Amino acid sequence: MAASETVLRVPLGSLSQSCYLASFFVNSTPNLSFKPVSINRKGVRCTSSHEFSTVSNSAVRGNSFHSSNCSLKGKKFVCKCQKHDVEESIRSTVLPSDGLKSDLDEMPLPVNGSLSSNGNAQSVGTKSIEDEAWDLLRQSVVFYCGSPIGTIAANDPSSTSVLNYDQVFIRDFIPSGIAFLLKGEYDIVRNFILYTLQLQSWEKTMDCHSPGQGLMPCSFKVKTVPLDGDASMTEEVLDPDFGEAAIGRVAPVDSGLWWIILLRAYGKCTGDLSVQERVDVQTGIKMILKLCLADGFDMFPTLLVTDGSCMIDRRMGIHGHPLEIQALFYSALVCAREMLTPEDGSDDLIRALNNRLVALNFHIREYYWLDLKKINEIYRYQTEEYSYDAVNKFNIYPDQIPSWLVDFMPNRGGYLIGNLQPAHMDFRFFTLGNLWSIVSSLATNDQSHAILDLIEAKWAELVADMPLKICYPAMEGEEWRIITGSDPKNTPWSYHNGGAWPTLLWQLTVASIKMGRPEIAEKAVELAERRISLDKWPEYYDTKRARFIGKQARLYQTWSIAGYLVAKLLLANPAAAKFLTSEEDSDLRNAFSCMISANPRRTRGPKKAQQPFIV
Ligand code: GLC
Repeated sequence: MAASETVLRVPLGSLSQSCYLASFFVNSTPNLSFKPVSINRKGVRCTSSHEFSTVSNSAVRGNSFHSSNCSLKGKKFVCKCQKHDVEESIRSTVLPSDGLKSDLDEMPLPVNGSLSSNGNAQSVGTKSIEDEAWDLLRQSVVFYCGSPIGTIAANDPSSTSVLNYDQVFIRDFIPSGIAFLLKGEYDIVRNFILYTLQLQSWEKTMDCHSPGQGLMPCSFKVKTVPLDGDASMTEEVLDPDFGEAAIGRVAPVDSGLWWIILLRAYGKCTGDLSVQERVDVQTGIKMILKLCLADGFDMFPTLLVTDGSCMIDRRMGIHGHPLEIQALFYSALVCAREMLTPEDGSDDLIRALNNRLVALNFHIREYYWLDLKKINEIYRYQTEEYSYDAVNKFNIYPDQIPSWLVDFMPNRGGYLIGNLQPAHMDFRFFTLGNLWSIVSSLATNDQSHAILDLIEAKWAELVADMPLKICYPAMEGEEWRIITGSDPKNTPWSYHNGGAWPTLLWQLTVASIKMGRPEIAEKAVELAERRISLDKWPEYYDTKRARFIGKQARLYQTWSIAGYLVAKLLLANPAAAKFLTSEEDSDLRNAFSCMISANPRRTRGPKKAQQPFIV
């Protein structure tokens, strides 16, 4: 990121002096004004990160922040864990606070760093669905040197091929972590945050190419290996995957963004700010920001990514500027701004963060928004406009409006489109991106209500028999063949291509509580409860109405379980949703209204003098 990038030039026909973004930062809230402190970021961080990154082994050794058996050996942190130590510490550290000790006593002991080798197909008996979900969630917990550090993606005893579903996925752990936070079980989240932070600095390569420092892994696995020179001892190692082993070799752009969001939720929920204030954690936040805010060739403030870099981790035509990444990016910027402590040399980073927040917010609200009025506007677009104040800036040809959209768009309601590129709008509805735009206040208040209006109006399409479609509609025929590369997993109305994912329930719940409309989530949870436990907590459902358990869906998928639990916990205690939501502050609101009044789309007419927008 260049320090000199502090002037954002916007063709501002009608911008008044008071609309200088400079004033946005001068008159900023305490969150926006960071004063330097005397910590040398590079000195503090790089010492340890470089030591880690030069370890030639393909796994990270545990550090010493909680285990007396962990120590620094040369350039490696090593945790020695004799098997009986691990068992002992599990018994003493994971007893839940709500008196479920007897259930845990019956749990199989962990083997080889992970746990839960039993079949999950326990009978629910008289247990409530919620109790069953808690048991299953606890059984999915993974331990490292005796401490809980995450949950495996799925614990499906019927599955013949595990692939990487026995790993802890960063994005999958978020609902698990939130469920534990809401239940008052904080250790697992704290450990997850701190251990994954160590993995951030790991040297990752694919065919001799390394992605940027600051990338967080997609997933990691705990491995138990014999300790050199002592057969009676084992050591546990964390083995991360940054995409170098993942199917399709996709870099997980969302991991670091989710990590920041979880870190903020941890602080808000526990009241313990000591984790986010740690120097290594602050450095971790900055490394993620630096990677995301780095200068590139792009003209847009949105984050440019490859296909499959988020929850949809296979080719689905979402390369470019997909909404899901933009919503998470925005949310992470807002959360980071709240958590960053001032220090020497961070002014440029803070300035870049603030500039990006404003530009991103404006870009998404203005250009991604779609409702009946906007469709009609696009329908009548002029094209090939060469000028600074073109209405059809991205040269969208009206013929791109797909026929399904005309029926899909209700009279009341709207949504943010899936992606925007030069000469291309992806009109598909992507659920996670829309919901998280509500949660993070990337969408305006009116837009947020309109998105929920649309979900209600299109219930049969988006929810049907099981919440919630990952995107709508599915790609079919030739389009499916070309865009997915004939992917047999993403056939129409299956998996990422229009399948229904129960995990999205928690995001729907946070969004609907934030907008004061919890009844939407209640209705969806009720629907899920009719089948989800009987169906053994599938990863996803297939068909237009989500009537079948997904063709290749895992059963006992942890984030389906955790997503349901978070929804239930939040509906029982809606005030807790604020650990996840962000409200738009007045500075951002002012900056946005200044930009909007300067937008040529609304003020087309004789050109006024151009003014630079100084930030
Ligand atoms: C699938 C999903 C991805 C998830 C992973 C583990 O690959 O697309 O989002 O993280 O499974 O559950």
